[in-house]
Amino acid sequence: MSEEKKISIHGQWSSRWSFILAATGSAVGLGNIWKFPYITGEYGGGAFVIVYLFCVALIGIPIMMAEVMLGRRGRQSPINTMRTLAKEEGRHGIWSWIGWMGVLAGFLILSYYAVIAGWALAYVFRVGSGMIQASDSAGVQAIFSELVSDPEKLLAWHTLFMALTMVVVARGVKQGLEKAVRLLMPLLLILLLVLVGYAMNTGHFNDAIDFLFKPDFSKLTAGAILTAMGHAFFTLSLGMGAIMIYGSYLPANASIAQTSIIISVADTLVALLAGLAIFPVVFSFPDLTPGAGPGLIFQTLPLAFANMPGGLIFGTLFFILIVVAAWTSSISLIEPAVAWLIENRGMTRVSAAVWSGLATWLVGIATVLSFSHWAFDFNFLGTVKHNGVFDILDILTANIMLPLGGLFIAVFAGWMMKQKHSKEELALNHSYRLWWFLIRYVAPVLVLVIILNLFGLI
Ligand code: PHE
Repeated sequence: MSEEKKISIHGQWSSRWSFILAATGSAVGLGNIWKFPYITGEYGGGAFVIVYLFCVALIGIPIMMAEVMLGRRGRQSPINTMRTLAKEEGRHGIWSWIGWMGVLAGFLILSYYAVIAGWALAYVFRVGSGMIQASDSAGVQAIFSELVSDPEKLLAWHTLFMALTMVVVARGVKQGLEKAVRLLMPLLLILLLVLVGYAMNTGHFNDAIDFLFKPDFSKLTAGAILTAMGHAFFTLSLGMGAIMIYGSYLPANASIAQTSIIISVADTLVALLAGLAIFPVVFSFPDLTPGAGPGLIFQTLPLAFANMPGGLIFGTLFFILIVVAAWTSSISLIEPAVAWLIENRGMTRVSAAVWSGLATWLVGIATVLSFSHWAFDFNFLGTVKHNGVFDILDILTANIMLPLGGLFIAVFAGWMMKQKHSKEELALNHSYRLWWFLIRYVAPVLVLVIILNLFGLI
């Protein structure tokens, strides 16, 4: 391979650590702090958490390694990377559809992700102004429903967040992003620990531990299993090309296995800490329930902050950090589309960012309305969902599109690619065989079984 082919036209991370930070920035986001607690609450706790952890270990980590590997070998947007690699392996060009489906998934996810990030942005000001300080749990719930039932307000916050995202995307992932993540990710971790420290003193910490880690397998419906697997993909940013494109900016000599494990462990840790911070608070207020849905953290964390010393400052800072965590994830959701527009449509980075941002913003309006005028209930495999289009988008992307994308990535890396090539990229000794076994058999079979089970086919 010639020297210039080894670097993506979009640039390269300055070191392996930059990649780890950026990929962790992508992985750690609303999925960990907002989504993990509320779906764990909806699906009954322990058993759901165990399935999720198994999925991270057996499906998530091997597929993350595969995505990074494919990205680094292809060095382009996921669509073109898959096309190039399929050609290199003598396979059909149809494999570039992994990239197309990923672009669509990223676009749909960002459309609702930016709306929820907008809530967090709104809360920076609600908590920061002291509005929450004097409230009891009824007051905090009222503040939340007042926000989400007002589409005009939501639209304003959604617009602001989308603009923030597109500014960074327009500047290129390396500038700004690297620096922001380096500082803010550790800060997020510290604040989460402060919150867990508070939660330990609520008198309900043990209830939370029981809820999160004591499995009651009778609660494990087909919907719970599918959601747990879908969440493993969502939280690790897998199955749509985000990690693939970040991998395409990875220097050639970095260890793919090590970095993937570091990222996955960090991501899982943040989710569990968020659970440990939130559920003790839920259990200490009788009118709060674990199954409160997407509003869960917005109805519980403010209460914790209202009651702890220094809560005003900690609370404001914490919501700022949630926004930043969401920000570094959003960027990776749209980056595959932007890179493709630059490569194939000859756009500048700025116009690619503007056009994809506008399109995403527009679709996001459906989510904005899902919490008021367009709200409707439906039954998802025995669990009632209340927020119409938002829930449908979430189920479609996280539970169907990402696992399918991941399945095809696993099949390509495990079955279509010559073993010599994956060996060369991964540069592992003994553990190569373990990865090989997981990517060829375990990950694809598990994904298939879980999806087929859903349709009652197994
Ligand atoms: N992993 C992010 C989160 O947990 C969301 C995400 C999904 C980002 C898919 C990129 C790709 O918040």
